[in-house]
Parts: sequence; structure tokens; C-alpha cells
Amino acid sequence: MHPIIVKSMKVFTTNQSLHSCLASLKTSASSLGFVPTMGALHQGHLSLIKRATKENENVVVSIFVNPTQFNNTGDLETYPRDLNQDLKRIESIESLGEIIVYAPSEAAVYGNSVTKEAFDFGGLELQMEGKFRPGHFHGVGTVVQKLLDIVGPTQAYFGEKDFQQLQIIKKLVKISKTNVKIIACSIEREPNGLAMSSRNTRLTSAERFHASKIYDVLKTTKGKFSDTPLDEITKWVANQFEKDAIINLEYFQISEQLTLQPANKIEPQKKYRAFISVYIRNIRLIDNIALN
Ligand code: PAJ
Repeated sequence: MHPIIVKSMKVFTTNQSLHSCLASLKTSASSLGFVPTMGALHQGHLSLIKRATKENENVVVSIFVNPTQFNNTGDLETYPRDLNQDLKRIESIESLGEIIVYAPSEAAVYGNSVTKEAFDFGGLELQMEGKFRPGHFHGVGTVVQKLLDIVGPTQAYFGEKDFQQLQIIKKLVKISKTNVKIIACSIEREPNGLAMSSRNTRLTSAERFHASKIYDVLKTTKGKFSDTPLDEITKWVANQFEKDAIINLEYFQISEQLTLQPANKIEPQKKYRAFISVYIRNIRLIDNIALN
């Protein structure tokens, strides 16, 4: 017999209403999955939610545009917000259980002080995104800790699309001794290879077509990794974008996967990844790939 697919969803905007719902669900053995998002949901987000619904009895999805992780107010103000659209997308997921959506106000998350904590993530925060988006990961760490404390999940799901963020969250829960398992989810891509992102909708169709080059370059990097010196790969990548009229390279870095330190020489027992950030006009896109 096929399982009955129950499509239902509850939406809460206050901590109190969320907590009374969660209290009514909880038995000591039940697992609660949590997928934090900033909304503007696409298939990348939905893949995390689908996985969480398969692996947990109950799932909370948060939708909250976190003010403390933006580098400039313009970017925060223009961040796409459409709760009804997001709820429709969540409702379209076929799930055995109910999906609980937590869409809080700023005050529900931050009280009356919208400030970020300063963390020491052991240097993870100083590489790549940390260099180009100063303070960003302190804002991410602040909000994710608050959300974990409010929701109290057994497992929380993060995408490898933001691989540095994922490593920072793993470090965060270790530092704060939060009892939650962090689950890494693979990158969802458009048919041409471009990593899915809320920002892709801002690209023209010609730009979106051309942006497949980002993943093509990463795939070639992976092919070169075993037999080409790292500095030669880095030069080759820079070359690919130097004459490109559409894509501007911001950084390319090959790092050891756990520390995110730039790789100098390759140690066979360690795992490495290539990370890239580019601009198409003022639209910033990031991607990464496992190399070994
Ligand atoms: P947001 O950018 O909305 O992303 C929410 C989650 O979706 C993150 O874990 C992100 O890595 C994942 N994701 C985004 N695009 C993806 C793709 N193409 N494939 C797989 N996963 C993808 O990341 C944030 O929000 C915020 O920093 C947050 C953690 C919610 C804190 O505010």
C-alpha cells in the first residue's frame, strides 16, 4: 500500500505560538528537523526541506531575512521578500507529515537589540567570504544560534552551496555546546550547471546562459587537480575570466575542506575544495566543488 501523502502546513510568527505547537508534538523519541532560510525559496532550499521531511517526524522551516548578516543596507532593503509565494512553494512539497513554518518578526528573534555577537571560529571566518564580506559570519552565527535556541531541533540542514557557512555552523554548535546534528546537503544546480540562488532571477537570460561557465571552470579545475600544480590551476582560472566581458572574478581559492586554509601542498589523506566568487554586473555569485 502506498503511504498517504498529507500536504499540510502551519505558519507561526511568534515564539509563543511556535513553542506551544512544538510542545504538543514532542515525545522524547521524536526527531525535529530544522531548515533555516531567508525566504525567496527555490529548488535548492526545497531540496533541504524535502530531505528534512524524509529524515524527521516533524520539520520546522524558518523564513527570516537576518539584518545582521548584510554588509550594506541597500542589499538588505532589496532582498526579495514574498512570504505567500514561499508558503506556496513549501505547500507543494509532498511530505508525510506537517511542515511547520516559522516566519518571525525582527523583535521575536532579536528582542529590542538588533546586534551581532563577535565569534572566534578558529580562523574559518577569515577566509574567502569573510575577507570580502567583513562581519557577515558574525551575523550568521548570531542568528543561527538564536534560531537553534528558539526551535530546539535534533538535526539542522545546511547547503554545501554555502560551504564556508556550513563549516562555521558546525564550529558554532561545538563552541556553544548546542545539542544538534548539522546535516550537509549537496548543491542543487540549474540544468546548465549554474548553482541555484535567489540572485539568479536578477540575471538576464543571456547572462544566466553564460553563467554556466562558472561551474564549467570548477569542473575543469577538478579534472586538473590531480596532475597540475596549484598555482598553475589558479592562473588558468584567472585567465578564463580575464577576457570575459560578462563575468568578473572576485576570488578563486583551493582550500583544505575542514580548516578552509588555502592549500599549498596537497596531502593525500586530506580533502580539498575549490571556491569561487564572481560578479555579473552588481550580482554576486558563489560556488564550490569537491576536488578529491
Ligand atoms: P539562504 O541563502 O536563504 O539559504 C538557506 C539554506 O539553503 C542554506 O543552508 C543554503 O546553503 C541553502 N542553499 C541555497 N542555495 C542552495 C543550492 N543551490 N543547493 C543547496 N542548498 C542551497 O544561508 C542563509 O539563507 C542564511 O545565511 C541563514 C543560514 C538562513 C542564516 O540567516
